[in-house]
Amino acid sequence: MNISSEFIKDGISPLQRKKFGNEFQWGVSVSAYQIEGAHDKDGKGLSIWDVFTNKKGKVFNNQNGNIACDFYHRSSDDLQLIQQLSIPNFRFSISWPRILPQGTGQVNAMGIAYYDRLIDECLSLGIEPWVTLYHWDLPHALELKGGWTNRDIVSWFVDFVAICVQQYGDKVKNWMVLNEPMVFTGAGYFLGVHAPGRRGMSNFLPAAHHAVLAMAEGARTIRAICPQANIGTTFSCSHIEPYSNKEKDILAAKRVDALLNRLFIEPTLGLGYPTQDLPALRKIEKYILANDDKLMKFDFDFIGIQNYTREIVKHSYFTPYLRASIVKATKRKVPTTLMNWEVYPSSIYHILKKYDAYEGIKKIYITENGAAFTDYANDDGSVEDHHRKEFLQNYLKELLKAKEEGVKVEGYFIWTLKDNFEWAEGFHPRFGIIYVDFKTQQRTIKASGWWYKEFLEETNRME
Ligand code: BGC
Repeated sequence: MNISSEFIKDGISPLQRKKFGNEFQWGVSVSAYQIEGAHDKDGKGLSIWDVFTNKKGKVFNNQNGNIACDFYHRSSDDLQLIQQLSIPNFRFSISWPRILPQGTGQVNAMGIAYYDRLIDECLSLGIEPWVTLYHWDLPHALELKGGWTNRDIVSWFVDFVAICVQQYGDKVKNWMVLNEPMVFTGAGYFLGVHAPGRRGMSNFLPAAHHAVLAMAEGARTIRAICPQANIGTTFSCSHIEPYSNKEKDILAAKRVDALLNRLFIEPTLGLGYPTQDLPALRKIEKYILANDDKLMKFDFDFIGIQNYTREIVKHSYFTPYLRASIVKATKRKVPTTLMNWEVYPSSIYHILKKYDAYEGIKKIYITENGAAFTDYANDDGSVEDHHRKEFLQNYLKELLKAKEEGVKVEGYFIWTLKDNFEWAEGFHPRFGIIYVDFKTQQRTIKASGWWYKEFLEETNRME
């Protein structure tokens, strides 16, 4: 499919920033382990990703984030690039083991100073910092005590949150507690394909429940220290459709939807776990203590939705617990990104409608959306990633449609600023709007980055 002509045919090209309104927040997202490098510098402790990437065969070509984009040493230059692109909001995460090398106890002053500088530099450049408190790099010392399967993680996490918010709360207004709990518990504690590489329901269920508790307790901690803060948390979401109209496929799609899209948001809203549509979750009750129903709830100021694609789901006798399988996009012969994820712009529309319908969600930001493609730098220094530009525009068009229908979506952050370490996939899926040559660390703004700049500057020109 030629995405670009589809887009133009719909008659809203060029996409105009002003249609989203003046209050709409535009930004770009990154995470600590994927970009910082400096994995053992200035007193930082080991994270579970430092350990996982050291095990053979866990990551594509045995790559790791030891150096990544060297953002730790190049943050000033990268912030200048954000400013050059006229991007007003920067979402990044704080590395827990950089602040608390052992996860609890002794605070690392150099870690504190690093983020202090980063935040100050953002502010001096007119860039608003949006801070995620957990983007998957758990201190290894805590994993040795059970990590997310140990209920004590709730108090370990809250202590870390308190340190960060006390330290930076006068300068940072926007906080996100967790990044995609479904992914770090599912891939890290059930499938074993992400750090810490644990498997099975006996790891997944307690990890999931403790993540739900940590999400609410972490948010309460921020509220207690900074009552005025804009507090959110982020969820991975994919629009789910059944493979056929057969009842068994429809029920299979419901189960997958409960797992991927509802498991973490519903207890937060006071709706409990979606065990009715996903009976395999029932054993989570074993980990729920007397007062937990109340502790799981928090009235977030916003939720962050991270959407990339949709999934088509079919009944399967062979998949334990879920009895459902995903029909791969590559088998369906649809356009895909380098992650083999379907390019399906209206996924973001459906997901926005779905979340907007929940009572209790006040505001939604798309905190991640983007695409990985094979990009390369031309001899003249340009990177012509028009496919990414079209991808972003088409998803934005669907977001706008939802917004015009009254959905409370107030912001959009591209994943991601620059090519980086894509977890188990290593460095080859390039998601950035800035190209990184990982040998020289040279940065080159891609065509998509130039487009974003032009788009963001439009309002200025038009006013
Ligand atoms: C994560 C990012 C990741 C991106 C693309 C999200 O699941 O928050 O860390 O790089 O998707 O896979």
